[in-house]
Amino acid sequence: MTAMDIAAPLAQPRPDPAMSLYCLLDPEVLANPYPLYRRLREKDPVFWDPFLCAWVVTDYANVQTVLHRFSADRTPTPAQLNSLGLDALEPIARVMIQQMLFMDAPAHTRLRSLCSRAFTPTRAERLREHIQDVANRLLDRVVPAGRMDVLADFAAPLPAIVTAELLGVPAADHEQLKAWSADYAEVLGNFQHNPDRAGRVLSSVEGMTAYFRSAIREQERRPRDGLLGSLLAAEIEGARLTEDEVIANVIVTMVGGQETTTNLIGNGLLTLLRNAEQMARLRDDPSIAPSAVEELLRYESPSQHTARLAPADVVLGGKQIRRRDPVMAVMAAANRDPARFANPDDLDLTRKDNRHLAFGWAAHFCFGAPLARLEGEIAFTTLLRRLPEIALEPNPLVWRENLGLRGLEALHISFRSQGAAGAEVR
Ligand code: HEM
Repeated sequence: MTAMDIAAPLAQPRPDPAMSLYCLLDPEVLANPYPLYRRLREKDPVFWDPFLCAWVVTDYANVQTVLHRFSADRTPTPAQLNSLGLDALEPIARVMIQQMLFMDAPAHTRLRSLCSRAFTPTRAERLREHIQDVANRLLDRVVPAGRMDVLADFAAPLPAIVTAELLGVPAADHEQLKAWSADYAEVLGNFQHNPDRAGRVLSSVEGMTAYFRSAIREQERRPRDGLLGSLLAAEIEGARLTEDEVIANVIVTMVGGQETTTNLIGNGLLTLLRNAEQMARLRDDPSIAPSAVEELLRYESPSQHTARLAPADVVLGGKQIRRRDPVMAVMAAANRDPARFANPDDLDLTRKDNRHLAFGWAAHFCFGAPLARLEGEIAFTTLLRRLPEIALEPNPLVWRENLGLRGLEALHISFRSQGAAGAEVR
């Protein structure tokens, strides 16, 4: 035995709680997480967070690598939940393990190709007129009042109605779909476990499953256009999705399609209001809307981070990561990396070379990105065209306690009031 072997282990530096991603639970940090992300990126872009028991990755190059190379197959199996004494959550896990978001190739490739057949960019584009119509109808209701809560009156119902149409279920059910989706987003967006909310999430999963099962029975009697019917019929080389796979992936599409798009509109409008010159630019020239949407996605990403597991023992950013170690890829931090984006904290609606990671990267790149982009363009241009002199109301801004899916509880604005047909009434 050498002297080295018996020497006391080197003192480990004390973990710094101010570097933990758990700081997002502090409302002040949640209101502006970007200084925390900057600190992480500058001090330790591949950081072992001892409080979260996960690696936290914040620079663009390494986030891209994690999204490209690491395993998405991270849902605890029913057996693992059992061993943790969490068997009550089993029905949620049973749905999640069948969702493409939580799979690796080849299972992911098979599922995604079947779903892609059913949801093409052309299908999204066909919804353009309909989205414009829904946006106008929602604004017709509030325009005379001269004030609105952008979230409740516009940003929440718009994607909920569009998603119902996309799926091929009655648009009249959009409030119920929205409520379920908000509950399920608790599972998708949060890494903290909140036992008080588990019961509600559970009953929502059961509610959604029963709803889509009966919608499938209805489609068998009376087929209608939409993703649900297309998924039931999709076939590659004789392979079809099972009914449970269809339901699980309709649920992830419905939730993915609503929560994030709502937050793109809410976060985006707030960002424009905080950057009056840029907002005037978009109002004066709506043709820049596509690039404005990309910049708003980069600047205030609705999906801030996602999780992966290390596929093997690997070195990332000089750190040794062990196989199956959990890794948080913080896209919102990567999107503000000065090594990738010039002046990343400035909003520039005509930014060039804006390959942000707000829709993820590689195999799991957002399935609904064409639709989200379209909804974003229509939402911002319609709000700016129809609401003159928009201003923030003095109510305090409250961010939802969902650490992954960043969004506001409410966004109260006022504007110059007009008659329903657009005639000024003041
Ligand atoms: C602004 C709006 C949106 C944002 C920011 C967003 C963001 C994302 C991100 C970051 C991922 C990848 C997650 C990961 O790699 O772990 C993703 C995947 C996904 N998104 Fe979206 N999304 C949006 C809108 C939509 C819409 C409108 C739909 C459906 C209509 C949708 C459906 C999906 C689905 C099904 C996946 C899983 C894809 C896969 O695993 O292959 N999303 N989204």
